[in-house]
Amino acid sequence: MNNEILLDKDRLPVRYDDKPCYDIVFKDSFADLVSEVDSVVNLEGRKVCIVTETTVAKHYLEEVKSLFCNASCDFVGDFTFAAGEASKNLDVVRDLYEYLILNKFERRDILIALGGGVVGDLTGYAAATYLRGVDFIQVPTSLLSQVDSSIGGKTGVDFDSYKNMVGAFHMPKLVYINISTLNTLSAREYLSGMGEVIKYGIIRDRVFFDWIIEHTDEIKALDNNIVKAMVYRSCDNKREVVEEDPKEQGVRALLNFGHTLGHAIEKLTNFQFLHGECVGVGSILAAGIARDLGIIDDNTVNTIKDAFSRFDFPDITDYDIDTVVETTKSDKKMSKGQIKFVLIKSIGDAFLSLDVTDDDMIKVLKEYKDARG
Ligand SMILES: NC(=O)c1ccc[n+]([C@@H]2O[C@H](COP(=O)([O-])OP(=O)(O)OC[C@H]3O[C@@H](n4cnc5c(N)ncnc54)[C@H](O)[C@@H]3O)[C@@H](O)[C@H]2O)c1
Repeated sequence: MNNEILLDKDRLPVRYDDKPCYDIVFKDSFADLVSEVDSVVNLEGRKVCIVTETTVAKHYLEEVKSLFCNASCDFVGDFTFAAGEASKNLDVVRDLYEYLILNKFERRDILIALGGGVVGDLTGYAAATYLRGVDFIQVPTSLLSQVDSSIGGKTGVDFDSYKNMVGAFHMPKLVYINISTLNTLSAREYLSGMGEVIKYGIIRDRVFFDWIIEHTDEIKALDNNIVKAMVYRSCDNKREVVEEDPKEQGVRALLNFGHTLGHAIEKLTNFQFLHGECVGVGSILAAGIARDLGIIDDNTVNTIKDAFSRFDFPDITDYDIDTVVETTKSDKKMSKGQIKFVLIKSIGDAFLSLDVTDDDMIKVLKEYKDARG
């Protein structure tokens, strides 16, 4: 990453297997959506299915659908499912397959994922598997999906209570980010998405971390240029990581900073807190472990705590410590029964550790709980 946070860039090419694969474009509206899609998949004579969910549909489906209806496609359909993680399952994928079959979608036809990470993951998975793979476009509308889930080609659904258990790597043909969609996102969802943004700063981009702190007010006020620059820089971080490690065999695991304890807490608080909120707590705890192991100092932990509180991250303490530690054992991020824990050497420099013990986790969880009464 260079030292300049760019305010005027609107396109980021992503490579896969060392070859150009797809672009991420950053726009203020949907005005260029059809021409951008057309330039990568040539819409002439092809069918398009816009896949979305109820909340996002209310805001954007009509507009997006009419744009495609005015283009040269053969047919424009839409498939809308109930908003929320509970829909990210094989039953909804089955309904989508059925819709595509009934409307005679062939391998040359295209799915458009219009929504947050739930829509992106599910649509990507359907696109990866329908007729052994059709093209799809990511149109992410939540902050989390714009800065994280729409990039890198990880698609999938949950299976019973197992998150993201069934999936495939399938690259989109384009990621079209309309920054203005963030204006209809609830403040809580927006701030929760900041968890992933701050994470990039903590694990690999100190310049960005400092910039985020410096621009807290503009970010919270959704200042268009600042938010666009922030989303761009986040995507650039994710791009570098997925280009280096497309199938998550190495450095991509660093993106799980804050997730080991964060996921466990998310599960144990019955999903009453948002994912990003739990990752925020998990990040503070991971920093605490690094301090207890003598890798970073107290100041660094406080700087990280302060970053999350600036963005109104809640304190979460309503869990039993031993159960949290037990729950981390069912985390997918294990290596031969041992947890792969992401720690930091400093802000901007993360590494994978196999040395974190149950006692280390118990200590930091207890300290966090005690400090918050
Ligand atoms: N594939 C990956 O690499 C990857 C990475 C991280 C997370 N994920 C997945 O992403 C999902 C979480 O994504 P998410 O936080 O976007 O969840 P989400 O799709 O459920 O969206 C969050 C909420 O915001 C609403 N919403 C979205 N855009 C909106 C808009 N513009 N205006 C108003 N409301 C809007 C949705 O209806 C929903 O209520 C999880 O399923 C997670 O597993 C995937």
